[in-house]
Amino acid sequence: NINRRRVLQGIGVGAGALSVSGVLAAKAGNHGFTHGVASGDPLSDRVILWSRYKPEGNKSRVDNIIWQVAYDRSFGDLAASGITSTAAARDYTIKVDATGLQPGRHYFYRFEVNGQRSEVGRTKTLPRGSVDRFRIGVASCSNYPQGYFHAYDDMAKADLDLVLHLGDYLYEYAQGRYVNPIAEETLGRVVQPAAEILSLDDYRRRYALYRSDKDLRAAHAAHPWICVWDDHELANDTWREGAENHNEGEGDFTERMAIARKVYHEWMPIRTAAQTDQAPIYRAFQIGDLADLIMLDTRLHGRDEQFIYERDIARLGGPETFVKDHLFDPNRTILGADQENWLGAQLAASKDRGTTWQVIGQQVLMGKVVTPAVPDDVTAKMKAQLPDEYSDRLDGLKPLAEAKLPLNLDAWDGYPLCRERVHAAFKQLASNPVVLAGDTHNAWAFNMRNYQGEAVGVEIGTPGISSPGLESYLPAPPKLVSELLKASSSEIHDLDTSRRGWTVVEFGPEQMTSTWRFVSTVLESQYSIAESAPLVCNAGAKQFS
Ligand SMILES: [Fe+2]
Repeated sequence: NINRRRVLQGIGVGAGALSVSGVLAAKAGNHGFTHGVASGDPLSDRVILWSRYKPEGNKSRVDNIIWQVAYDRSFGDLAASGITSTAAARDYTIKVDATGLQPGRHYFYRFEVNGQRSEVGRTKTLPRGSVDRFRIGVASCSNYPQGYFHAYDDMAKADLDLVLHLGDYLYEYAQGRYVNPIAEETLGRVVQPAAEILSLDDYRRRYALYRSDKDLRAAHAAHPWICVWDDHELANDTWREGAENHNEGEGDFTERMAIARKVYHEWMPIRTAAQTDQAPIYRAFQIGDLADLIMLDTRLHGRDEQFIYERDIARLGGPETFVKDHLFDPNRTILGADQENWLGAQLAASKDRGTTWQVIGQQVLMGKVVTPAVPDDVTAKMKAQLPDEYSDRLDGLKPLAEAKLPLNLDAWDGYPLCRERVHAAFKQLASNPVVLAGDTHNAWAFNMRNYQGEAVGVEIGTPGISSPGLESYLPAPPKLVSELLKASSSEIHDLDTSRRGWTVVEFGPEQMTSTWRFVSTVLESQYSIAESAPLVCNAGAKQFS
């Protein structure tokens, strides 16, 4: 497969040639309403509205920006309006919390200043009371230089109440790193700035580039979004005090994270506290009596450092001691004690209210994925297709498979007793937990069990919008990869290891259904959608039927 080889060859190559995207991005940086509109963090009576207005010349402030919320697209019937301002100190981004709205209603919104109007966005408040149906579109891992954001185009056209973005909204890398050469060289999807993003200006310019993408903008303009970051809005494999991709010469980690947080709040339609843009982003939403939506930060807030097999097994006394004393250390956490307590309190409140579904929106897989035992002849075939650094990794899988160790220590599998406590809270307090995850770029469905083997809830992993998945590390036929993973990992109910797309999750009083919408390509301008058979979880079952 030529495309796959080119993806892999693209990893680690130097900066690509100048291309057309430089021109497009420069244009998007002009004055006026430069980056469309967005809305987010809806409640039953309010929603955050977002836009950006860059004045001509070097004015550092813009006052008298009118915002309007209407019941109709022609703005004949206003529901709310007001005046706001912006400034260079916030990169000219505009954010308003529009209040006094009615529950479960569609609204249209726009901004106006100096005789110029933004485009019109459509949004929706959360419902109150009894709710028959609620449809969430789930997205993650949209990497601009890996290809087109067709999945966002499809989301923009879909009938949804809400979009959840579970992180990797953008990637921090330099030009030529973690790219698809076809996307960079032929499609002109080259990142700006060219270097890895480190400074305030760098992070801002990277958001501005992503928000110049028409499909991403359409998805923002069509639905309210609720977003959490994963690692790449910060730096690869972030934890509480560091990141794999924060290195010597890149400055102070805490300062870099303060910048990343600030710019996230500038550019994303998330509700920002009046006093600070540095507050934790874990937060909860009520979808009437149907669901409680609990959004976590498993990435930055309280996460202990990831273990790395090659580095840590020998250092920490061999495989058995590593697992018993270190991986299964009860103090080890992916949430931090305060967030773990908060999650328990949210589940308890959900139980008190009698809410049907507890939807946990977060970054990394919670379901157990044990390293698959790959037959030697399959390994040999895959190695022939891979560059050296990847084929060495394949050799490393064999001892892990024999010891039944997890495939990915950056996920909840690297924090097993923290997960077991969360499972205990699910068991005790949650009537129907549904965990949503991003991060892997592949589609997953799990029937999660605690270490006693009892069903504790389901998990759905959403495929990436454009980032490559397991097929680039395990280039065997997807059906075989699926069989090998199901054989090693009893919690896996279903998976797709080779396609990009997004997920529709529909909640009703009796059941939840989850459907993957896979795009045919991220490298050609025309695409089609293949929809998976819906997976069904009945209320009370805590597992897929
Ligand atoms: Fe990702």
